[in-house]
Amino acid sequence: MSTVPSITLDNGVEIPQLGLGVWQVEDEIVADVVTRAFETGYRHIDTAAAYRNEAGVGRAIAASGLPRDELFITTKLQNSDQGYDSTLAAFDKSIDQLGLEYVDLYLIHWQCLKKDKYVDTWKAFEQLYADKRIRAIGVSNFHEPALRRIFEETTIRPAVNQIELHPALPQDELRAFNAENDIVTEAWSPLASGELIDDAALKTIGAKYGKSAAQVMIRWHLQLGNVVIPKTRTASRIKENFEVFDFRLDNDDMATIADLETGVRTGGDPDVFG
Ligand SMILES: NC(=O)c1ccc[n+]([C@@H]2O[C@H](COP(=O)([O-])OP(=O)(O)OC[C@H]3O[C@@H](n4cnc5c(N)ncnc54)[C@H](OP(=O)(O)O)[C@@H]3O)[C@@H](O)[C@H]2O)c1
Repeated sequence: MSTVPSITLDNGVEIPQLGLGVWQVEDEIVADVVTRAFETGYRHIDTAAAYRNEAGVGRAIAASGLPRDELFITTKLQNSDQGYDSTLAAFDKSIDQLGLEYVDLYLIHWQCLKKDKYVDTWKAFEQLYADKRIRAIGVSNFHEPALRRIFEETTIRPAVNQIELHPALPQDELRAFNAENDIVTEAWSPLASGELIDDAALKTIGAKYGKSAAQVMIRWHLQLGNVVIPKTRTASRIKENFEVFDFRLDNDDMATIADLETGVRTGGDPDVFG
């Protein structure tokens, strides 16, 4: 049923290029939101221990009746759990909350430079991967120096780097570094947390195709090769954000969107956050 293309990670695992992000969707309502997404055709859900809604995501998975191997479930290690033993314990808790035997992708949520624990944390990720409790391991909010340290001091390279990325912050350099190292770039806050929804240039492009600014942004991510996880708790937008496979932006559209770069973040700066 799904029309979503997949990207093959460096270990052969396929990640659906479009998923639903559930940050700030409270546990009491997240099961309904995820259930609606499954009905729409989404198979990829992005949650995190820090979102406090893994249990609700798990309830929707259990109720869906969908075969486990058709789903792609990502969760993330929260900052306070960095460290080897604490990572193993935190993973047990996440998987218990989700009601799953394995997750498809586990990410270190932030590099947390001041803690300086991400190398030990990554070694625990490698152990969980070796134990086949995770199909792919990756990072989030990592910059080149921390990635290089992981390359030098550990065995497995991250399959994914999930970073803030939208037309105002296209992250060309980090995307290129990721690509050179076979790391798939996943875009968080892909709609700039909603801040570009009323952008006139995006609306003008959308009008050519009968699409909204949100659909234009999601299409831009897909054409750049990003994995994209727009968040919405709104039923009509769950559907809207999925209807992005029946049009294609042309080179002029892509150039117009490139002009929206300001370099302004909507979220924390990974070099200081955490
Ligand atoms: N790794 C990290 O550190 C990190 C950080 C932030 C986010 N993330 C992940 O990335 C996901 C997405 O990021 P995000 O939640 O920050 O922001 P986003 O997806 O860029 O934007 C979400 C906002 O846009 C609105 N929206 C969604 N679709 C819309 C549409 N079609 N038309 C108009 N408005 C629309 C939503 O409103 P409604 O919900 O009210 O509909 C919400 O206010 C998160 O849920 C999370 O999974 C990861």
